[in-house]
Amino acid sequence: MSADARPPAARRPVEKAVIPAAGLGTRFLPATKAIPKEMLPVVDKPAIQYVVEEATRAGLDDVLMITGRNKGALEDHFDRNWELEQALEAKGDEQRLARVRKSADLGTIHFVRQGEPLGLGHAVLCAAEHVGDKPFAVLLGDDLIDARDHLLERLIKVQQQRGGSVIALLEVPPEQTHLYGCAAVQPVDGEDDVVQVTGLVEKPDPADAPSNLAIIGRYVLDPSIFDVLERTAPGRGGEIQLTDALQERAAATGEGAGVHGVVFRGRRYDTGDRLDYLKAMVKLGSRHKELGDDFAAWLKDWVAAGGE
Ligand code: UTP
Repeated sequence: MSADARPPAARRPVEKAVIPAAGLGTRFLPATKAIPKEMLPVVDKPAIQYVVEEATRAGLDDVLMITGRNKGALEDHFDRNWELEQALEAKGDEQRLARVRKSADLGTIHFVRQGEPLGLGHAVLCAAEHVGDKPFAVLLGDDLIDARDHLLERLIKVQQQRGGSVIALLEVPPEQTHLYGCAAVQPVDGEDDVVQVTGLVEKPDPADAPSNLAIIGRYVLDPSIFDVLERTAPGRGGEIQLTDALQERAAATGEGAGVHGVVFRGRRYDTGDRLDYLKAMVKLGSRHKELGDDFAAWLKDWVAAGGE
């Protein structure tokens, strides 16, 4: 197909997922001194495996992980481990063998290294060559969306209908806006969970926040974001902020411009935050198919006994 005959990027299918996992994880030190926070286990799988499973469930079999220091553990986890497999095979332990193999069988996983952690915007820019000229999904490696809530599928659908970029928004208490990027929005006729984003501010003080709709770690972005990121100067915290580039796209017109938000009303855990991590462990532990019943029963008794 000639370049002119190509459909606009908005209507090209979303096939690739980018998972930035190169942050320093300072909130979780010292656990994250030698391993990436994305490798911390939630019940019996590292947090990042839930994220990759979410991408492949939504049909995105091509996953690019942006890694930094300590990337070895991430690469090893999504690779085969022959020694382990042989040992389990020799023991006839089929169940554990299947568990070990599963992470290596999830789509095609590529890795690219972000030399310096210059910010989430810079991490996404590292994906430009791999992504090319189609819209693509971004899933933050430390943000876990409950598998029962199909947020990514919804973002992809809205992007295919409306074009431009689409971000996930979560209503947070006003005193928490300083922890997130926040969106100024307008309603969209006939849609209960979709809004037009008219502006974005990274980590505003409650008095300056345009709303209490916080950006959470799922996006479907038009590839025009890369050109904007190229010229986005470091913003808050000296980092190249994805929010700043999206603010530009929200204000722009023309092909690939415009930003919509999907207001998410499901379950989400920030596994890079110690308290949220503990909550994720309890909630997902209570629903685990092998451990859930026993764990939930113990938890109930423990709470009833005053947590002693
Ligand atoms: P965070 O804001 O959670 O930052 O990044 P962080 O450095 O990872 O963690 P703390 O705040 O020090 O504890 C949001 C997402 O962006 C990625 C992170 O890995 C995380 O998925 N990120 C951030 C990068 O990939 N590169 C960066 O330079 C910054």
